[in-house]
Amino acid sequence: MDRIRTNRPTSLKMFNGSDTDSGISYESTEDETEVNTPLYSLSLIDPIKAVMKPENVLEKFVEVGGRRYLNDNTVKCILPADQEEVKRAHDQNYVEKTIWGNSYSAPVSENLSLGASVLDVGCGAGAWIMNMALEYSASVFVGIDVVPVFPEDHPPNSIFLKCNILNGLPFPDNTFDFVRQRYLLYTIDWQAWKEKVVKELIRVTKPGGYIEIMDVYCEVLEHLRKTGINPTAGLDVIKTFNEFKDEVIVAPMEERTYCLGKKAGRIGEATLKYTVEAYKAMKIIFTHIMRITEEEFEQMLTDYEKECNEVTLCKTRYRAIIQKR
Ligand SMILES: C[S@@+](CC[C@H](N)C(=O)[O-])C[C@H]1O[C@@H](n2cnc3c(N)ncnc32)[C@H](O)[C@@H]1O
Repeated sequence: MDRIRTNRPTSLKMFNGSDTDSGISYESTEDETEVNTPLYSLSLIDPIKAVMKPENVLEKFVEVGGRRYLNDNTVKCILPADQEEVKRAHDQNYVEKTIWGNSYSAPVSENLSLGASVLDVGCGAGAWIMNMALEYSASVFVGIDVVPVFPEDHPPNSIFLKCNILNGLPFPDNTFDFVRQRYLLYTIDWQAWKEKVVKELIRVTKPGGYIEIMDVYCEVLEHLRKTGINPTAGLDVIKTFNEFKDEVIVAPMEERTYCLGKKAGRIGEATLKYTVEAYKAMKIIFTHIMRITEEEFEQMLTDYEKECNEVTLCKTRYRAIIQKR
């Protein structure tokens, strides 16, 4: 990490034309605009609004088993887009911050305190942005996700955009001081990762800025290999960044072990709870890929919970830190 340096952030730059085919839109109400547009951030947020295309609002949701999912074959969204999932994501964010002792590993805290531009790719319900935007009020946080399950009330220095990263990110080169992405590796086709996503993440990061990729290697995801998803993507994506050595410096990964179940105390119980809720939310996908019935899946989960509580199962999460030269 010695070779890694930080740059003082400059202001957030955005496209100012409306001719980009960004595929983004922003769901906003009059009230929301008033609440979320304080004077000091106007210059940052206005250019983003200028490129929004309201006609791109996706309304392709489908209800299955009481859960709401995005009904779009071009996107592999393995979690539902509903309030139950929003709550689960917030619980997970809280527990993970406790396990790591921080919300990020890249050496960006000074920049964030002074005022930096931050992008969270595949931000989901925006729990990370909500926390970070409150903690670092001088910085601006942009969350993008193909599924707009964004919070209605969010800090004024944050903004959420609907955007599919596979269509490219709607920002000019060298826009962000810090680009962060968590738990997306399994929702994006591996080929797209190598050919598009890694390049886009590097492109929108400022020279000297950081990219942080956080993910997990999870054995049950072996089943997802059949869908074009790479279950070892957490490690392989880092190798992909190594192919851009002229443009980036890849630091050694950080790891934390998450232990699940009663024997690992309150954090272990909370980790098991949000993990089981996530698997339940993915029931449709798992029953389909594993060719098992819903009852068999439920039984599998019950056994899993029992096993975790009896013998304490541990898993490893990674954070990879990449600096753009
Ligand atoms: C497992 S969730 C992780 C959410 C959040 N990063 C977190 O850590 O809680 C994956 C997220 O990636 C989003 N996603 C999947 N494919 C995407 C794409 N092509 N472009 C943008 N977002 C995408 C999904 O909608 C979902 O919100």
